[in-house]
Amino acid sequence: TRHGESQFNQAGRIGGNSDLTDRGRGYARALRGFVEAHAPDDLVVWSSTLLRARETARAVGRKSHPWKALDEIDAGIYDGLTYAAIAQKAPQEAQARRADKLRYRYPRGESYEDVIRRLDPVVLEGERQQRPLLIVAHNAVIRALYGYLCEIPAERIPHQVIPLHSVIELTPRA
Ligand code: G3H
Repeated sequence: TRHGESQFNQAGRIGGNSDLTDRGRGYARALRGFVEAHAPDDLVVWSSTLLRARETARAVGRKSHPWKALDEIDAGIYDGLTYAAIAQKAPQEAQARRADKLRYRYPRGESYEDVIRRLDPVVLEGERQQRPLLIVAHNAVIRALYGYLCEIPAERIPHQVIPLHSVIELTPRA
């Protein structure tokens, strides 16, 4: 799942390290209810190291393990801006990202390819887990994990729709 709605989500700003909104906290509580109703006692919980994900994971009421590799894509010099502000400030950058969202790297930040690469250890460790695993992370990161697990072609990964306030449940098969 993505974290609950954050202050930056509400303001349409990317990146940052903002806290949850009331609505986001409501989702975190609902997530706890969902886990209590559907998940076994030995559920493993991983989150990113960012406040919005940690707060969401904490609300679940189980011990959770923070992973830096689960942090959201780094928007570099555009961290904290809205998409409209980026398009106004640097239209050529916005255009370059539109043209190749998989490979476009934010200046001093990351591309989707970078995110996919840094998730390697998370994927390896996740695949070794014998117990069910709840990952509380971010849009780009969930896209990459979902894309890997569901064998989605890389070019399509940055365009997957991963809504807020939704749990995606995947069951691995041999
Ligand atoms: O930067 C945060 C966004 O949730 C990632 O979405 O890659 O579609 O801009 P985007």
